[in-house]
Amino acid sequence: MQEQLNQIKSEFETEINNVDSFKSLEQIRIKYLSRNGIISSLFDKLKEVPKENKKELGKVLNELRDFAVNLFEQKKSEIESQTLLSTSKIDLTLPAHTIKIGSKHILNQTLEELKDIFKSMGFSVFEGPELESDYYNFEALNFPADHPARDMQDTFFINKKFLLRTHTSPVQIRVMEKMRPPVRAIMPGRVYRNEAINARSYCTFQQVEGLYVDRDVTFAELKGTLVSFAKQYYGENLKYRFRPSFFPFTEPSAEMDITCFLCKGSGCRVCKNSGWLEILGCGMVDPNVFNYVNYDSEEFTGYAFGMGIERIALLKYGINDIRIFFENDVRFLKQF
Ligand code: DAH
Repeated sequence: MQEQLNQIKSEFETEINNVDSFKSLEQIRIKYLSRNGIISSLFDKLKEVPKENKKELGKVLNELRDFAVNLFEQKKSEIESQTLLSTSKIDLTLPAHTIKIGSKHILNQTLEELKDIFKSMGFSVFEGPELESDYYNFEALNFPADHPARDMQDTFFINKKFLLRTHTSPVQIRVMEKMRPPVRAIMPGRVYRNEAINARSYCTFQQVEGLYVDRDVTFAELKGTLVSFAKQYYGENLKYRFRPSFFPFTEPSAEMDITCFLCKGSGCRVCKNSGWLEILGCGMVDPNVFNYVNYDSEEFTGYAFGMGIERIALLKYGINDIRIFFENDVRFLKQF
C-alpha cells in the first residue's frame, strides 16, 4: 500500500510540474482531486482495512491529499500571475512615479523661527481671540473713543461692541490682566484690516506681539532685544536704525528699519528711495495702559513691540508682493 501511495505521489508531482495552462491544470484536478479522482478514491479503501490499521492509513492519506492540494494551489497562482503579465498592459520596466512630499508653508516656517528666537531669549508664547471687543482692541490700549488714532487701522466691525482685531496688541491687555510682573511674552496671531488689497497690503495677515514688564525695564533693553532678534533672523551684518514714531499704547514710540533688500541702501522704488524698510513698531508701555490692568506705573515699566510676519518674511526673501503668500501656487510654495 505504502509503495502504491509513493507511486501516486511522485506521478502527481511530475504531472503537475509539467502543467503550463489552466486547461492542463484542470485535467490534473479531475484526475487526482475530484470526487472520483485517484486520491479521493483512496479514501474509499479505508472501509476495507482492518480496524486497527484505519487510524494509521487515514493519517497517511490526509497527508497525501494536503500535499497534493498545496502543490495544486501553488501551481494555480503561478499560472494566474503569468497570464496577468502576458495579457495586461502593465509595463513593469517603467520607472516609478516620484511621490511629491508637501512642506510647511513659508509663513509657518517663519513664525516658528521667530518663536524659537524669542523663546531662547526667555519669552513665553500666549494667544488671544481674533474676534475682539472694542475695549481690548482700542480702549484699554489708550485709543480714546472717537479719537482719530482709531483711523490708523481700518476696522471690520461686527457690531458696535465687537470687531475683528486689527492687531495683536489686545493680547497684551489679556496677558497683563491674568499675570503680575515680571511678564515676558510674545503673542502671535491673525489680524484683519479693512484695506484695499494690493501688493503691499492684504485684508488679513499675521503679527507677533511682544511685551516685557518688570521693575526698571529700559528703552535700552528694548533696543538690545530687537537688535539681537533682527541679527539672529537676518544675519549678523544687518544694518538697522530706530526712528521716532507714534502709537497710542507706547510712549515714547519708535519704528525699526533695516536696509532695503533690493538696493542694499542706495535707494530704489521698493524703499521709495530711502534705502530703508520698516520691520516693526515698538515703544515703552504707556502708563495709561498700565492703569487699565491695575499695574502700578510708579513701580513697573515695560516695553512692547509688534511686527507683521508676512512683512518679516517678505524682506528676508526679497518677495515684492504680499498676495503671493495667500495664493498657494505650488511653484512659489515649493521654493521653501
Ligand atoms: N499694533 C501695532 C500695529 O499693528 C504694532 C505695534 C507698535 C505693536 C508698537 C506694539 C508696539 O506692541 O509697541 O501697527
